[in-house]
Amino acid sequence: MHILTVIDHPNPNSFTAAVAARFNNGAEAAGHTTEIADLHSEGFDPRWSMADIEGESSSKAPPYIVSEQQRIARADAICLAFPLFWWGMPSMMKGWVDRVWTWGWAYDQLGNPKKSLQKARTGVLLVPAGARSDEMEMAGYLQALETAWTRGTFGYFGFSPRKIELLHGSNGSIKRRQALLERSYDIGFTLPSPRG
Ligand SMILES: Cc1cc2nc3c(=O)[nH]c(=O)nc-3n(C[C@H](O)[C@H](O)[C@H](O)COP(=O)(O)O)c2cc1C
Repeated sequence: MHILTVIDHPNPNSFTAAVAARFNNGAEAAGHTTEIADLHSEGFDPRWSMADIEGESSSKAPPYIVSEQQRIARADAICLAFPLFWWGMPSMMKGWVDRVWTWGWAYDQLGNPKKSLQKARTGVLLVPAGARSDEMEMAGYLQALETAWTRGTFGYFGFSPRKIELLHGSNGSIKRRQALLERSYDIGFTLPSPRG
């Protein structure tokens, strides 16, 4: 498979960047090809704009959005790597999702999250998070993210199968972080094929 790994972190030496790199190492060891979209270093503008609105009504997306869509078109699987910020996506990733996966290109209805205009692609959300899993579960955040992302967003984009991989305790000990990096490698190594 060809995998597009999209990263939202301004620091190339961050844990998030390391996690994305280990994921790609695992995917390559399994025989896949990888491509990185580093939103910060590429200077992606996450602001949804008048150009987006006009592009949608004329079915002509701005050129910088078309080039993002071309990267997606090449991919059989997509990995989004970003840290959990306030129980959601940081702004760069949120803007990329909002702007690139447009009405009329990714989806044309909102009734059925299993229906997308896109072909099926394996989708992984690789998400370092400071909190422990039991804390997140007890407070209802895990369920909230499953509902918003797995059920409510990424089905419309054709991500199938799709999975949120929360890397809990990402600010923890070196041992903990090492284990999370190894898990990221395994997630890349065992990535399933798309299921239409
Ligand atoms: C602005 C901000 C908001 C954050 N919000 C959350 C949060 O809601 N839940 C959580 O578990 N961790 C949260 N964190 C912690 C980060 O997810 C965690 O530190 C992650 O490892 C950061 O990525 P990095 O290590 O690659 O810098 C937040 C961190 C920042 C800076």
